[in-house]
Amino acid sequence: MQTFAPKQESTDPAILSKRIFDLIKTEMQLVEAEYERQASSNIQVIDYLGEYLRASGGKRVRPALLILSNYVLDGDATKDNVIRLATVMEMLHTATLVHDDIIDNADLRRNRSSVNARFGNQTAVLMGDWLYMSAFETTVRERSLEIIDILTRLTRKMTEGELIQLTRIGRLDISEAEYFDILERKTAFLFSACCEVGAILAGAGEAEQKALRDYGMHLGVAFQLSDDVLDLTSETETLGKAAGSDLLEGKLTLPLIYLLERLPDLQPKLEKIMFDGEYTAIRREDLRALLRENGIIQVIKERADDYVTRARKSLDVLAESRYRSCLEDVLTFVTGRNS
Ligand code: IPE
Ligand code: IPE
Ligand code: MG
Ligand code: MG
Repeated sequence: MQTFAPKQESTDPAILSKRIFDLIKTEMQLVEAEYERQASSNIQVIDYLGEYLRASGGKRVRPALLILSNYVLDGDATKDNVIRLATVMEMLHTATLVHDDIIDNADLRRNRSSVNARFGNQTAVLMGDWLYMSAFETTVRERSLEIIDILTRLTRKMTEGELIQLTRIGRLDISEAEYFDILERKTAFLFSACCEVGAILAGAGEAEQKALRDYGMHLGVAFQLSDDVLDLTSETETLGKAAGSDLLEGKLTLPLIYLLERLPDLQPKLEKIMFDGEYTAIRREDLRALLRENGIIQVIKERADDYVTRARKSLDVLAESRYRSCLEDVLTFVTGRNS
């Protein structure tokens, strides 16, 4: 019988990331090779952009989740279909980023020029479409209606999330419920689908499938909460994308929703920043200081931790293993990360 040695606790994101990705190193290398294949084309411009996007990196959290979810249910994630679908998830994610950067008018992504900034909006729209469709073509070849169903529903929900968000741009009266609705659609469903598809490919029963689906959903919420905090507290060089841009883009995220509840007089200043597209009415560092002084960053961290706790609880029905322990590490990594 395989013995399970309890691991050393760590919250250092670099240590956690290394531990997570070391465990599935071979599989992630296979994903990289598969990504190269899936994003290649005999049409030169597509081939060039596919490589531009693939080589720009990213954390690769989503394919890693599919692989870990597969292993935690005794699947064999070195199998071709698992690697193909893990890659599909990263391609779907990349497609949403390419489109998101057009929508948000973002110039920087993963420390490089975004596709829209470098090659123009027209090219970026079409490249995003191409990535979606290539990902679906690969999925359809797996002949699993269950998986096609999950991925089409998911893509619809992501688009709905971005569209609902657009209707709230520049609005300071956005409610907490609206914020969470957008967040679940634009981010959490993809995390949930990665975990669920990993479980399905391992031949999981309904209870296990639900456990992974729920784990992914809660993790996804915690992930976006952290992303929204990092936008306010971190720097462009660390994030690889423009820090502080949510407010400039007219997006009021949960930290600012809470801050406005506490300091309603701040409303005209935030409005002015949205209107100017610049930190004119308050300097970014002063806004950050206000968030800290009012305990808002701490409150959001606690909200994210609540979701982490729920995600961890969802795993309770699974047998203990190093993969389950690794899925728990992902939770700590996601909320403690700095990029
Ligand atoms: C960015 O996702 C989009 C959000 C859901 C916030 P990641 O932070 O996973 O982006 P990469 O893939 O590592 O660049
Ligand atoms: C992320 O929203 C959701 C996506 C579907 C890309 P953001 O707009 O916060 O993502 P970043 O911060 O640009 O990565
Ligand atoms: Mg964006
Ligand atoms: Mg963001």
